[in-house]
Amino acid sequence: MKMSVIGCGYLGAVHAAAMAELGHEVVGIDVDAPKIANLAAGRAPFFEPGLGEMLTQVSASGRLRFSVDMAAVRGSKVHFIAVGTPQKHGGNAADLSYVDAAIDDLIPYLTDGDLVVGKSTVPVGTAARLAKKLQASGTGAVLAWNPEFLREGFAVQDTISPDRLVYGIDEGTADGDHARAVLDEVYAMALSKETPLVVADYATAELVKVAANAFLATKISFINAMAEIAEVTGADVTKLADAIGHDNRIGRRFLNAGVGFGGGCLPKDIRAFTARAEELGRGESVAFLKEIDSINLRRRQRAVEMAIQSLGGSVNDRRIAVLGLAFKPNSDDVRDSPALDVAVQLKGLGGDVICHDPEAMANAQTKHPQLSFAASAVEAVTGADAIIVVTEWDEYKQLDPAAIFALAAGTLVIDGRNCLDMSAWREAGWEYRSMGRPDREQALVD
Ligand code: UGA
Repeated sequence: MKMSVIGCGYLGAVHAAAMAELGHEVVGIDVDAPKIANLAAGRAPFFEPGLGEMLTQVSASGRLRFSVDMAAVRGSKVHFIAVGTPQKHGGNAADLSYVDAAIDDLIPYLTDGDLVVGKSTVPVGTAARLAKKLQASGTGAVLAWNPEFLREGFAVQDTISPDRLVYGIDEGTADGDHARAVLDEVYAMALSKETPLVVADYATAELVKVAANAFLATKISFINAMAEIAEVTGADVTKLADAIGHDNRIGRRFLNAGVGFGGGCLPKDIRAFTARAEELGRGESVAFLKEIDSINLRRRQRAVEMAIQSLGGSVNDRRIAVLGLAFKPNSDDVRDSPALDVAVQLKGLGGDVICHDPEAMANAQTKHPQLSFAASAVEAVTGADAIIVVTEWDEYKQLDPAAIFALAAGTLVIDGRNCLDMSAWREAGWEYRSMGRPDREQALVD
């Protein structure tokens, strides 16, 4: 099929390449000229495992093109909208200006029977409004909403083999039937592998996406709330997570306590959901998400306070190696990253902070040029009074605590992701502290 993907960020670039990989003829559109130049040259403009290889392969096939000019969508029958919906400045709601601009710019090129497919995460009610806009355009184009559930770091695999497909369509109408038939053709490969498909109305499809992210955020903040209780009782949140996770109804995934969730999705999605529910007069239904957000933000604070307390009441002029800047491993994304936040806070408190991340240093430097960076984790920890691990990259988990001990000036390590081998680090002589797990010398309960 001939298709366009409008917006080539973390979502759109992977979607465009994956659709071409599946045999479709794709053009990717973005207003960011350097990004388009990279993609057109077969280079991934951000770190995403497998994307570079896939781009090289499909670019050679001639099925994938990129352009900054919307006119390049001519001839495509399906148009995916994959632009960002960031948090509005000064508020919690989502900024829909990029979605509206994409549709407005696309309309002049639409022809009868074209399918416009929204993939961006939007507040419930947006698709119905955009469907009316398309109708009013007189182009004969039809709208579907098809939320995306890919995870950064696994985006290629999640796009080629999604765990479910959701079509939001105008059910029970000829337009709805047309949209479904076109989407079935787009996703023929996944459907042939019996990927579960849920066909719903627009509102349900929009809500599925925000409900999924709200649930995941809730699960993480739940275990972090348990970590807070563990910290004052001497309990171990990791063992607690293992034990409750054995219950299939609960499940162990997304129960890792630490400095909490970040990224371009979970934080802003729960805030936008809260804002939308308030607009709908149902603020109380998701008011708990404000608490989820607060618990999450408290965990970064907890890591900073732990550093201050363990270093004798101040981090001023103390050399602190911050390992990790990305919001999670296998990503270079620092949007709302707890790791970057911890680094910036420690620096702001007068710490002599030296940061390292295998992939995210360039993005971190652009946002916070005041930070200092080391070329390797070993360089960062050399001479450090304390180490704080805030992104659980494999390379940090594999550090040799005995070898590092000889290089550091101090003996404190704070494991902000509960990812290091606690006994190995303690045996090597480290004062090891983590999130929601007992310190050796604790006597917490009266
Ligand atoms: C999230 C969802 O998982 C995807 O399904 C969704 O498609 C995507 O948002 C989106 O809306 O586009 P992503 O932002 O890539 O994906 O990251 P996650 O893997 O969900 O992790 C989010 C944050 O939670 C990270 O900072 C991670 O470190 C943290 N986390 C995750 C924990 O603190 N504990 C856990 O147990 C799991």
